[in-house]
Amino acid sequence: SKTGRLVIVSNRVADLSKGNLAGGLAVAVGEALKSSGGLWFGWSGARSAEAHSKGPNIQTFGNVSTATVDLTEKEFEDYYLGFSNRCLWPLFHYRLDLAELHTTGQATYFEVNKRFAAEVAPLIQTDDTIWVHDYHLIPFAAHLRQKQVTNRIGFFLHIPFPAPELFSALPHHRDFAKTFFAYDLVGFQTVRDRENFARYAEEYLNCRRLNDGRLRGFGRTLRIEAFPIGIDAESFAAEAEKNARAPELRALAREVESERLIVGVDRLDYSKGLPERVRAMGSLLEKWPNYIGKVQLLQIAPPTREGVQAYDEIRSELERITGEVNGRYGDFVWSPVRYVNRPVPRAMLAGLFRRSRVGLVTPLRDGMNLVAKEYVAAQDPADPGVLVLSQFAGAAEQMEEALMVNPHDPAETATAIRRALEMPLGERRARHKALWNQIVSESVGWWRERFLAVLHETNGQPATPG
Ligand code: G6P
Repeated sequence: SKTGRLVIVSNRVADLSKGNLAGGLAVAVGEALKSSGGLWFGWSGARSAEAHSKGPNIQTFGNVSTATVDLTEKEFEDYYLGFSNRCLWPLFHYRLDLAELHTTGQATYFEVNKRFAAEVAPLIQTDDTIWVHDYHLIPFAAHLRQKQVTNRIGFFLHIPFPAPELFSALPHHRDFAKTFFAYDLVGFQTVRDRENFARYAEEYLNCRRLNDGRLRGFGRTLRIEAFPIGIDAESFAAEAEKNARAPELRALAREVESERLIVGVDRLDYSKGLPERVRAMGSLLEKWPNYIGKVQLLQIAPPTREGVQAYDEIRSELERITGEVNGRYGDFVWSPVRYVNRPVPRAMLAGLFRRSRVGLVTPLRDGMNLVAKEYVAAQDPADPGVLVLSQFAGAAEQMEEALMVNPHDPAETATAIRRALEMPLGERRARHKALWNQIVSESVGWWRERFLAVLHETNGQPATPG
């Protein structure tokens, strides 16, 4: 039955009292929970020496309760920064060169999953549906099953699942991957991710693919599906309309006309293709000097995961290349790239998107990328801006009417930016309309409903993997 509560488990829990949501997961899960209600368990965001003795801190906001626990310094270092973000994140984003595969954090990663499972187990009721999110918590269900939890448990991976050739470079990858089989359903962003996982399971775990696509292995049958995550397009559009005339944006409009403004908004992550994007601006100005003094890229890139070396390095690289392009093309009153290394409230971003002509979303690899969808949602349908989108974002599987680019090629990106800047109104409207219909029909509500409906179809499974 569907009568039970929804229990969400994720590393990051949005602070519902403040409404400051960082990253795609917190935004989407927050939206999903708002309409169904339920319990959201995860990390408080704080570190403390007493993390293990305190028990979850439970707070209630309307129909949603949050239960959060602290991490110790060692857990923060080895589970969050270490195994999750120095190893799994780069590996899953196809960056074998950056993945610290030998990291000692793997043991702590499993221990934190075990502790989280132990802390949440007493809060679980028999008819609850449990939905676990993202790469920090892959073995969560395996630990929960050991606590005799027989509820339906689903998992959704917000980031890509890499080609098996990369995943198999992870030490002990079989023991790690086996823990997926404690779930009843594993969801991926795209068909490509799902098929990567299926191929890995067949080739490396000796699993059998059933005719209906399910995987047979470790004494269980695992349902795997693609569920592309979405946004609440109507509410983001309303936010954009409301904020398009905010005083901060009026000041910006005096500096650069909306028709000449290009925007990018990304956590400052090496997966986002930021130096390549700035290089594309350089390439645009080199090839078409008529844009010098006229166009501007406003790049908002708040810091993230500070303390991980690859993040310190990408930041230096972005700042160096931004300085180089600004130095070469800028003058006394104008510079081609405006760079903001701070978070900006979402409402303000919505207004900013609406007042720009081009949205640049050019990650080298991305699970989905909700900024692409937000950019479209924010546009004025009568005079919409144009989305330039990387072929390597999960969103590219759905958003075919965007201008698609290979972000590794700055010249190609520059050509697409030019095409977006010059695109006639009729074509802009037609592309926007198609994209708008897409994001409205495959919304965050659709994602949640479909995932839970498929999870509820699964049954008759032995609780623990054999
Ligand atoms: C991505 C991940 C999320 C993560 C977010 C922000 O969207 O898929 O799991 O929460 O980035 O990163 P952070 O490390 O700050 O949680």
